[in-house]
Amino acid sequence: MTNWTELDQNVRSWIKEAGERIRHSFQTELNIKTKSNRNDLVTDMDEATEHYFTENIRQTYPDHQILGEEGYGDELNELSGITWIIDPIDGTMNFVHQQRNFAISIGIYDGSVGQLGYIYDVVHDELYFASKGKGAYMNDTKLPTLKSVSIADAVIALNALWVTENNRIDHTILAPLVRDVRGTRSYGSAAMEMAYVAAGRLDSYLTMRLAPWDFAAGKILIEEVGGVVSDLKGETLNPLNKSSVFVGKPGLHETILTKYLKVKK
Ligand code: IPD
Ligand code: CA
Ligand code: CA
Repeated sequence: MTNWTELDQNVRSWIKEAGERIRHSFQTELNIKTKSNRNDLVTDMDEATEHYFTENIRQTYPDHQILGEEGYGDELNELSGITWIIDPIDGTMNFVHQQRNFAISIGIYDGSVGQLGYIYDVVHDELYFASKGKGAYMNDTKLPTLKSVSIADAVIALNALWVTENNRIDHTILAPLVRDVRGTRSYGSAAMEMAYVAAGRLDSYLTMRLAPWDFAAGKILIEEVGGVVSDLKGETLNPLNKSSVFVGKPGLHETILTKYLKVKK
């Protein structure tokens, strides 16, 4: 039997320690490499942070599975038992260029059910946390249940790329939405954008393609405060697959889905 209280204490202490190491790295020179293309960055801190978590998890919980962006985890075909889904630094481009607006993201799943979600804004020392059925918090402050908001009053997050010609979505689909909402934002860290939706700082966030480690924790957080999490077709996200992601306040999610994304319900 898993002792969830003890596990939660361990995650918190590892996250704080990892955050401390990342903050310390601001004083040293980073080793920056590129992955799939010249804008897909990875640093030695991304790798060291994931390595730090995987070492601790393997030592303390040898029977748990790990899915991590930088490859220190396992190759997974299914979610069985307990799985840690880890993005050691979400928003690496911000980490490199701005030294802010990035987060450590950890979702812990029991089978396919998200149990614990952590998104740690390292620079502001803000830990967004949710435990399934027990509420969501930003540090010690409980996050209230999300209420619906109209399109005209909504502030939504999306990357400007999706309203220019691109090969993932017809760019004319989102232009009317951008026109009708109160404002748009783009923070460059999917995990932080999802934490902001959970905290009510943003009303919705949508994007064309994320990996499991980008949304695993955010999904748990948003659902815990009554928000809606789906892909752009309104379908449930599979925490093992890459997909589009569309999250938002109840009501608003439905309106965007049916009126702008033209999904028939
Ligand atoms: C990226 C960020 C970004 C999102 C990208 C992700 P990374 O994660 O979350 O906001 O638009 O799709 O890959 O590479 O910084 O961990
Ligand atoms: Ca990421
Ligand atoms: Ca990352």
